[in-house]
Amino acid sequence: MVASAERNGGNLVILTGAGISADSGVPTFRAADGLWEGHRVEDVATPEAFDRNSALVHQFYDARRAHLDNVVPNAAHEALARLDAEWPGELLIITQNVDDLHERAGTKRLLHMHGELKSGWCRHCDGRTRWRGKMGVQAKCPACNAIGKVRPDIVWFGEMPYDMERIDAALQECDLFVSIGTSGAVYPAAGFVQTARYRGATCLELNLEPSAGSIFFDETRIGRAVDLVPAWVGEMVGS
Ligand code: APR
Repeated sequence: MVASAERNGGNLVILTGAGISADSGVPTFRAADGLWEGHRVEDVATPEAFDRNSALVHQFYDARRAHLDNVVPNAAHEALARLDAEWPGELLIITQNVDDLHERAGTKRLLHMHGELKSGWCRHCDGRTRWRGKMGVQAKCPACNAIGKVRPDIVWFGEMPYDMERIDAALQECDLFVSIGTSGAVYPAAGFVQTARYRGATCLELNLEPSAGSIFFDETRIGRAVDLVPAWVGEMVGS
């Protein structure tokens, strides 16, 4: 069992994806009923789409932001928050998710590499502000008062994910890399396992099905995040 080998305070890097929030009722992207099923990525998740039809893009993200009011963190988010609080060594949770379920569960050592639904980015003053409710095309920036310049603070296809330097530094130091609920379809996150492996880390995958990069992991556990994550956290810090 790979996880227990690292038990006593090694450096942990954990990558999460849509699968960890699936049991909270947040749709994943690539499932048959997933978010990309009803939309073309090029229509809602690129800077070009926003320039072309910002009303449609706002509608898509406003609906997803509103949906967050109806969901709560699940046992997997809660288990990771407990690991964060109790793990004596370095730990970094990198999420590709734009929901706020990790922080609502209490996780502190967290990076949102693909941005956040509850953040707005003003293209006039370049400021980022916490955002509640609708944004829409007429949104006013609370920092500079410009109207119609705020966009969802989401990393779209063709844009650079956030915090890559910090992430790379953590991967270079990591002893155990754990990937949870991600299909491994989108780079650079999909390549983290190879960086961690090259550095000599043990790599563990927890997912409903083997991901695209499954062969790079030392161990793959198949199942739902709500079952697998609390069990694994129990192995790391006791139940
Ligand atoms: N428990 C564990 N894993 C699950 C569960 C569950 N309950 N439900 C689904 N999964 C798995 C699926 O089997 C799949 O492998 O989660 C993965 C979700 O994959 P995607 O929908 O591709 O989501 P993700 O990997 O997070 O997407 C990466 O793609 O579109 C972009 O920016 C978007 O951050 C997103 C990125």
